[in-house]
Formats: sequence, structure tokens, C-alpha cells
Amino acid sequence: MIVLADALISLRNLIWIVNIAAAVFLLGVAYAAIRERRRRRVTPMNKLKYHPDEVMEGPRLERMGAWALGAMAVIAVALPAYWLLEPGRQDSMDDQFLETSITQGEELFAPSGSNEFALGCADCHGPEGQGGATVQSVEISREDLDLAGGALDAADRICAPIEDDDTSLLCQVTWQAPALDTVYLRHSREEIERIITYGRPGTPMPAWGLEGGGSKNEQSIENLADFIESIQISPEEAKAQEADLTDGRELFEAHCARCHTKHWSYAETFAGDANFDLLVVPAGGAFGPNLTNGVTLRQFPDIEDHIQFVIDGSDFEAPYGVRGIGSGRMPGFGGMLTEDQIRAIVEYERSLGEGEATSIRQLLGGREAGGDGGDGGEEDAPPAEQGAGEGGEQAGGGQAQEENEQ
Ligand code: HEC
Ligand code: HEC
Repeated sequence: MIVLADALISLRNLIWIVNIAAAVFLLGVAYAAIRERRRRRVTPMNKLKYHPDEVMEGPRLERMGAWALGAMAVIAVALPAYWLLEPGRQDSMDDQFLETSITQGEELFAPSGSNEFALGCADCHGPEGQGGATVQSVEISREDLDLAGGALDAADRICAPIEDDDTSLLCQVTWQAPALDTVYLRHSREEIERIITYGRPGTPMPAWGLEGGGSKNEQSIENLADFIESIQISPEEAKAQEADLTDGRELFEAHCARCHTKHWSYAETFAGDANFDLLVVPAGGAFGPNLTNGVTLRQFPDIEDHIQFVIDGSDFEAPYGVRGIGSGRMPGFGGMLTEDQIRAIVEYERSLGEGEATSIRQLLGGREAGGDGGDGGEEDAPPAEQGAGEGGEQAGGGQAQEENEQ
């Protein structure tokens, strides 16, 4: 590749040299012609004696013919050679542009403060785009929070009262940010650029594009999209990563709940804390619609259509199911989950009944996040100062986020 690029660069130089030589030659000819005219001004051309007809139509004509043939031969070789190399030259320019764009995207993606252009995508999505988390302040309604004993200790680890608001609490939560090294398996490039431009209101994901109220022009959004595209893992690798999950509910929680279950993205914050419990309605609807109560059975009477929809995701303005119209926001999972896994998720979805609120501690109990928090007693409460430190540090970041309640 590099050798070819070098060859093409020297071809470009060669073309320059040939062009300059040609220009010098033409100027020389013009100069000589003018001088010749001046010198011979006295005798007009038509009065001059020239070769006799035998010479003109004999050897001289042949000599001219030979020159013409030679020139034509040069063109015949040079033109196709140029024509053959041209697509390669264009491709190599495209490659060069793409490389520059990826490098610029990488700078934008980098952890904040690591270079002068860094936007800090890596702070939340992980340095390799493998997924991560960010600490945020979120308002959560008291209805959705179950306070042990009903009382709120102001020095508590997670939540604190809000002045003049007795319906909600301000909670420091750890909000999971999805992996981006698989995002092209779920979304089209256009959808990805739209997400980056407009962000996702109600989550820590800010709008970055000018149109969304951010500060970055289209070029920067493209740089980011190019960089993210360059770090994608293959469908095989993605499927291998997910291979150990087979249970429909757990698969749903790992891949779908962040959009379809309100509070899900930070639910684990509460799982191990004896003072709080968070109530969620699994698949009860958040960014994506409510999937409980037979809604999906009505949308997809045939389970195969339902599975196909989850494989493909939605497209902007494209119909799905019985009466659905896509917005392009529902990802397609066929690139990162096997059909068996998707079938398991869909069967779980279709089994969802009334959509009742469930305790996070019970739901996650026994899984690593909750640890011994399952039905663990109050004595497991972590020390308060640990939380205060965490909270104070993050409040300095000043990215308090409000979530739409009700
Ligand atoms: C403060 C944390 C934070 C920062 C900084 C951040 N994101 Fe995000 N991003 C998130 C969260 C959280 C989500 C998921 C939102 C949700 O659950 O709906 C997200 C979602 C996304 C998605 C959609 C992924 C999907 O599968 O739904 C893309 C693409 C994305 N971010 C790109 C970026 C890029 C590019 C940057 C940097 C310019 C960036 N993000 C910076 C937190 C962040
Ligand atoms: C990035 C957020 C997001 C994720 C992740 C997500 N969805 Fe969705 N989902 C949506 C949105 C938004 C819609 C509404 C359709 C649209 O806007 O195109 C939707 C629609 C649906 C519907 C159709 C509901 C109806 O009644 O119209 C089903 C079924 C569904 N999703 C299942 C899933 C499953 C299963 C998963 C996980 C494998 C999943 N979703 C992951 C955002 C998401």
C-alpha cells in the first residue's frame, strides 16, 4: 500500500515535470517564431524559395509521417497508463481522507483533557469504546424509591432530599453507557450520526452537533462516525462475547432494558444498598415503548414477525408489525445476537403480563451487581463517607442531569 502510494506520489511529480517542460517548450517555440518573423520581415514567407515538390511529397512527407506516428505511439501508451492509474490515485486520496478523518475522530473521542480537541466520549463509553459508565445526579420520584424504614438520612450514600420538592430525591447514580464498538451492528451510519448530533435527552448522552444544540459541525460528527466505524468488532466476535447468555430475561436486561425499562441504566446503583430499593416495571416503557400487557402480541400476532423485527430493528418512516411506524431508533440485534438468543428474548417479551413494579434488589439479587444485597439485612449498609466522597467529586463535574418524571 505504502509502496503504491509512493509510486503514485512520484507519478504526480512526474506529471508536474512533464507539464512544466511542455510549458517551457511552448514558450520557447512562440519566442522563436516571433524572432523568426522579425528577422525575415523583409521577405514575406510566400516569396521564399523552399523545397521542390519531389522533396516535399517524398522524404519530407515521410519524415513528418514518422514524427506523427511516434507522437501518436507516445499518446497511445501514456493515456491508457494514466487512465489505468487514475482510480488507484483516487482511491488512495479517499484512503488518505478517511485516515485523516479517523485520526481526527479519535482525538475527539479521547478522554477529556487528553488533547485540546477531546470531547470525552471515552470517559463514558470506555477508552476503547467497549462500554462504560458515568456518575450522574438524577431526580427520582419517591414513589419509585423504597426507603428502608421510610426515613431519609441526609448523609446517605445515594440520595438526598431536594429543597422545595417532596415528591422526588436527588440521587447519585452510576449510569451505564453502551458499548460503541458494536454500534454499527445495531444501527446504520445515518442513525449513528443522528444520535451523536442530537444526543439522547433524559440520559447523560449530550447533543454534540450544531443542529442538536451542541458545538460540533457536520465534519466533526463525520470524523466521530468514521472513528467509531474503525473500531467495530466483527459480528462473530460480538456473538462470541455474548455467547454465555441464554436466558430470555437476562438477555433482555442486558440489551433491551436500558431503553424499554425506566430507571434500568442505573438500577444496579441501588441493588446492593440496604437503605434503598428501586422499583421498576420490566419492559414498562421508557425511551422505547411499553412492551407489557399484551402490547407486543397485538403489534406482532405472529412471533416470527416479532423475531424478524428484533433482528432488523426499525427504519425511519418504515412500517413494522401491524400498525408500527419506525423512527430508526430501535436497534437491530441480528449482528450481535444469535437467532436462538433473540427467540429467547422475544418469548420472554411475549410472556410479560400486567407490567407490575418489581424490586430491583429482588430482580438483581444473587447476580454480581447486587452481591450479597439479595435480601441482605440492613447491617450490610456501606459506610456513609465513601458515598460522600464519590458524590462531592462528581458534583464538581457539574453534569447534573434531570430525568423527566411522570
Ligand atoms: C456523560 C457521558 C457520555 C458522554 C460524554 C458521551 N456519551 Fe454517548 N451515550 C451515553 C449514554 C448514557 C448513552 C445511552 C443513552 C441511553 O441509554 O439511551 C449514550 C449513547 C450513545 C450512542 C448510541 C449507542 C446505542 O447503542 O444506543 C452513541 C452512538 C454515542 N453515545 C456516541 C457518543 C459519542 C460519539 C460521544 C462523544 C462525542 C459520546 N457518546 C459522549 C453517555 C455519554
Ligand atoms: C436504543 C434504544 C432501544 C433498545 C436498546 C431497544 N429498543 Fe426496542 N424500541 C426502541 C424504540 C425507540 C422503539 C419504537 C420504534 C421506533 O421508534 O422505531 C422500539 C420498539 C420495539 C418494539 C415494538 C413495540 C411496539 O409495540 O411497537 C419491540 C417489540 C422492541 N422494541 C423490542 C426490543 C428488544 C427485544 C430489544 C433488545 C433485544 C430492544 N427492543 C432494544 C428502542 C430500543
